[in-house]
Amino acid sequence: MLGPNFTVLPPLSLYIHIPWCIRKCPYCDFNSHEQSGGLPEQDYINALMSDLEVQLPEFWGRTIHTVFIGGGTPSLFSARAISDILAGVRARTRLSPQAEITLEANPGTFEMQKFAEFKAAGITRLSIGIQSFNDAHLLALGRVHDSAEAKQAVEIGLATVGNVNLDLMYALPASRTGGAAQSMAECESDIREALAFQTPHLSCYQLTLEPNTVFAKKPPPLPDHDEAADMQIRIEEMLGAAGYEHYETSAYARPGMRCQHNLNYWGFGDYVAIGAGAHGKLSMPGNPTENAKIVRTERVKQPRDYMQKALSADPTSCVFERREVKRDEIGFEFMLNALRLNDGFPVAWFAERTGYPISLVSRALDEAEREELLTRTHEFIRPTERGQRFLNRMLTHFLK
Ligand SMILES: C[S@@+](CC[C@H](N)C(=O)[O-])C[C@H]1O[C@@H](n2cnc3c(N)ncnc32)[C@H](O)[C@@H]1O
Ligand code: SF4
Repeated sequence: MLGPNFTVLPPLSLYIHIPWCIRKCPYCDFNSHEQSGGLPEQDYINALMSDLEVQLPEFWGRTIHTVFIGGGTPSLFSARAISDILAGVRARTRLSPQAEITLEANPGTFEMQKFAEFKAAGITRLSIGIQSFNDAHLLALGRVHDSAEAKQAVEIGLATVGNVNLDLMYALPASRTGGAAQSMAECESDIREALAFQTPHLSCYQLTLEPNTVFAKKPPPLPDHDEAADMQIRIEEMLGAAGYEHYETSAYARPGMRCQHNLNYWGFGDYVAIGAGAHGKLSMPGNPTENAKIVRTERVKQPRDYMQKALSADPTSCVFERREVKRDEIGFEFMLNALRLNDGFPVAWFAERTGYPISLVSRALDEAEREELLTRTHEFIRPTERGQRFLNRMLTHFLK
């Protein structure tokens, strides 16, 4: 039979996208839209449930192990709305009672007042978008909060939900009206401020200029390439010394506190997606009339269009792209995710999660090993430090 051959299906997660923000940040290319007037919470919840219902036959009977409510700014939604969404998911799917359920939150006053209610609604983990604790850099990033609000949000998050991630960015710009790009001392100071809270998890991203953003059109002054690389190394040192495990390119966790949802992405697991612009990936076993396949989907981005389509007589019309991952793409797609894991991954994952034998990528593995970008045994594949630094170079081997 052609196509992949699954002996077991990969673990399953659920991603829920909430696409509104108070204001669009000039560096952001996520599917986020400035809120104008009140949020259409009830219509959006109805659309999410309709989007979920039409997908049920594609993952029927499988347990959902993690949920991530991302955005946009999901914390703009009321706790009641978040509770209704989770109740709707529980009523329609097999959601594990131990599921990690993350909500992305911004550190605004209005949002942090709701953290305790989010916890009561079933949220088990908060991911707070701090970005920096320096007011000049927050201003340069166009953030709507200052550093005092950021600190207060972390304190309330820890006191209510407990399991908290902080998103930080480094290599930050100067503001248009003056000031300087981020220095090493300022980067260290941001990390020290974050470490003072001892949160279970930290994510540190280098600011990138993404196409179709305000920053891409009018780039602000930024630290140069070498300065940014030195900041990355310094962050790794500081977080390592403080007991955090650097387990993925940008992710650091206290022992036992890794993000289970993101680990499933990086392990090439499956995920159902609902919401405007949300991307899903599902493996489907074959049957007597159809080959097994891995299908990627992408939903309409504009919130109004998405709601209108998801609530129409044909809710599947909210999916504008549906494509099967082909045999010659699968090696690259798997490695693009799995090689981000600094500890590496079991060789068996490849066959389990792509449905193809590891021999599909033998040549690329040999080449990457020869260049000392990875090491491997019969059981395990792991990027070297050099491979972690030159991840994109390593991945080009898997493109052929
Ligand atoms: C979905 S986003 C936003 C979450 C939340 N709305 C916020 O802004 O706080 C998740 C994270 O990606 C990071 N991010 C967004 N745009 C980025 C960029 N251009 N370069 C690097 N990191 C970026 C930020 O740290 C952000 O918190
Ligand atoms: S960075 Fe966060 S708050 Fe800013 S526009 Fe993007 S999703 Fe919204």
